[in-house]
Amino acid sequence: MKSSELRQSFLSFFESKQHQVVSSSSLIPANDPTLLFTNAGMVQFKDVFLGEDLRPYSRATTSQRCVRAGGKHNDLENVGYTARHHTFFEMLGNFSFGDYFKQEAISYAWEFLTEVLKLPKEKLLVTVYADDDEAFDFWHQNIGLPKEKIIRIGDNKGGRYQSDNFWAMGDTGPCGPCSEVFYDHGEHIWGGPPGSPEEDGDRFIEIWNVVFMQFNRSVDGTMAPLPKPSVDTGMGLERIAAILQGVHSNYEIDLFQNLIAASAKAVGTEDLESQSLRVIADHIRSCSFMIVDGVIPSNEGRGYVLRRIVRRAVRHGNKLGQKGVFFHKLVDALDAEMGEAYPELRKLKDRVASILLKEEEQFAKTLDQGMKILEEAIGQLGDEKTIPGETVFKLYDTYGFPADLTNDVARENSLEIDEAGFEAAMDAQRARARSASNFSMDMSGSVKLESVTEFTGYDHLQGQCEIEAILVDGAYVDTLEAGQSAAIILKSTPFYGESGGQVGDQGWLRGAGAFKVSNTTKQAKAHLHQGELKEGSLSVGDLVTGEVDRTMRMATTLNHSATHLMHEALRRVLGEHVTQKGSLVNAERLRFDFSHFEGVTAVEIEQIEDMVNEQIRMNRSVDTDIMDIEAAKQKGAMALFGEKYDSEVRVLTMGADYSIELCGGTHVKRTGDIGMFKIVSEGGIAAGVRRIEALTGKAAIDYTRQTEAVLTSVASLVKGNKDNALDKVSALNEQARSLQKELDVLKGKMAALAGADLASQATDIAGGKLLVAQVEVNDPKELRDLLDQLKSKLESAVILLAAVNADKVSLIAGVTKELTKQVRAGDLIKMVAPLVDGKGGGRPDMAQAGGNNPAALPEALALVPAWVAEKVSG
Ligand code: ALA
Repeated sequence: MKSSELRQSFLSFFESKQHQVVSSSSLIPANDPTLLFTNAGMVQFKDVFLGEDLRPYSRATTSQRCVRAGGKHNDLENVGYTARHHTFFEMLGNFSFGDYFKQEAISYAWEFLTEVLKLPKEKLLVTVYADDDEAFDFWHQNIGLPKEKIIRIGDNKGGRYQSDNFWAMGDTGPCGPCSEVFYDHGEHIWGGPPGSPEEDGDRFIEIWNVVFMQFNRSVDGTMAPLPKPSVDTGMGLERIAAILQGVHSNYEIDLFQNLIAASAKAVGTEDLESQSLRVIADHIRSCSFMIVDGVIPSNEGRGYVLRRIVRRAVRHGNKLGQKGVFFHKLVDALDAEMGEAYPELRKLKDRVASILLKEEEQFAKTLDQGMKILEEAIGQLGDEKTIPGETVFKLYDTYGFPADLTNDVARENSLEIDEAGFEAAMDAQRARARSASNFSMDMSGSVKLESVTEFTGYDHLQGQCEIEAILVDGAYVDTLEAGQSAAIILKSTPFYGESGGQVGDQGWLRGAGAFKVSNTTKQAKAHLHQGELKEGSLSVGDLVTGEVDRTMRMATTLNHSATHLMHEALRRVLGEHVTQKGSLVNAERLRFDFSHFEGVTAVEIEQIEDMVNEQIRMNRSVDTDIMDIEAAKQKGAMALFGEKYDSEVRVLTMGADYSIELCGGTHVKRTGDIGMFKIVSEGGIAAGVRRIEALTGKAAIDYTRQTEAVLTSVASLVKGNKDNALDKVSALNEQARSLQKELDVLKGKMAALAGADLASQATDIAGGKLLVAQVEVNDPKELRDLLDQLKSKLESAVILLAAVNADKVSLIAGVTKELTKQVRAGDLIKMVAPLVDGKGGGRPDMAQAGGNNPAALPEALALVPAWVAEKVSG
């Protein structure tokens, strides 16, 4: 099975199990500057697991492009040394968001592996988390795996959940214990089962990780349960392809063989077994896809990871004797392998190649010199096994050798590098460059946000602000130039940061440059103004004027306040069981998801609308108080389950205690500001969860106006007015129905008549009748029906019918059973079709053809009787 077929087969399997097929997301996680790269299929679903994002589906399946380099999950150093590690790979996954859990997840995995892919059961073994008896028993009793093939892994003492078989996407976020499926590649390969001293070998390879997502880990390490137990799985496409293609190393699968051949050609070597070629083939994939997703080589953050990988690839080409540029030439080969599945790569491949070329050229200038320095340093080591941190730093600083590249060379010489010494030298340099900074960054380039932005936007939509930090590609910079995209952190800001369902503000930051804010998000306590510098330049410490887009914010505010009124109305109309499951408030509309087990009726919708509009008309004040959480609860404030609240909370009271909720969002001063409230849709989105969408203010008025305009148009179409349009349309409907009935009856009669008429035109031939006719029918099916009718009428006959529509000829030939010995319908069609510039064929009793020359039809038909006569007499 080819890799592409495997990808498709996985997605189709889970689609047949009611999973929504979702596209791979970008390698750059959306709105998460703390995560370097998408490192697993679940990244795009992080908020869905947390219950903060509700989707119309509760099961999904993806083939996700992933990079594991330079972050929590980092495989860069292993590439080239094992059969199964990559910087870039594709992860096939299935996900359950509070839908199915352990047992189904295990059953699906087993069914796909053993029934769809037909892997031999005796080659498979699994691990479960140390104390996960449920998973153990299910694998043993229901799936039938012998006990010795179910290995308990994990450490329960003290540092529970810090060990193997417990999966987390990063230091924080959704996580849970897992059960991994392993494949035994056979005794001839070195390695032992999971948990054994030889587990790092390549014999037993993990192919599928099934994670039972149960917790959300926060910064301080505490684990809160997720709203609902969920499932996240991941299977490396390359690993499973290797098994199916009967090879042991991922690098021997179809996809890699072609890339390796192309690399050999570009490098100019014939040694296809070289580890360096594998490194190059691996690296062209991660580098190209990073560039496709917007990363540019640089000295910080994601850009630096990209630079490190390019340089590592170039060094391996160099090692094979290629002193010129070569790496960028592989983009075409990559496109040939993966451009079909990833159209974004095909579209940008020229740009990718030119960025890689530039990076190669830049590094080529210092590579030779750097290698000489490094070889000298290695020569001087004597018995010493560690390259000093200072040398690693000098290579980095002067020759552009990333530390992991030096490490790679060290490893080839059975040496190590002094990482701590290098880090110390780096720290010293960072301290020099950034003495005034109050941020920290670790070696991987991930940033921790420590700033606390003061929000001034409850009362002001404009304000003077000081720039505290600028983030580009997840790394801090001091200055931003026109054309660059960035996230800017201000000491104080009027911009609301996306949270509590309310979208982030848009607008401008103006000072020495003009920065267009396209969204504002919140990370920990910092507001990130995301956008692009349109002109000028901006630096840390600059003062800017923040201007929030007023129209958008006002419209959003109306929707947020109306959401609170509606929440309360829902509880009063439908019952106290109604709790918020999700909410989205933007300038266009409000969307509110809540628990309720049946559809909301039209009458209930009206009651809810009436109740909210009544509150609006009462025009009472909206008040906010900061109080401690206990006092707020006493006051009866609604809090959201699972949310973490500070000890001091903001309590929002509307309409004389009509609604009391904890809320950090922006709100109207008086309920009357909302103007009008109108529900526009209601429906179910998951078991027991309903969704309502509604409009307020001008949008609500526009909506009623549009609805009215539709009614007016309908009325004028039926030559009526608003009052009688409904009756008129019903009457027209009724009329159309009875006309259709009459028409069907007539059509039937006509067809029978035409059949009888045609049958009477048949002439006698030996053994039956011959009918050759041009008829007026519109589609091939009608032609076939007519032929069948005539066959049964004439009993024993050769029939050829032709119809002409839009300059095309349709031909159909039919021969009744007894006559097929002498005349075959297929032969007849093959005789006639070429005469009208057409082709066709079929069975002895029925054949069809099309043709392009209607003018030649009469002559062609005229030839039939003689042709048939010859056949039946002969
Ligand atoms: N997210 C899990 C992993 O990456 C499936 O292994």
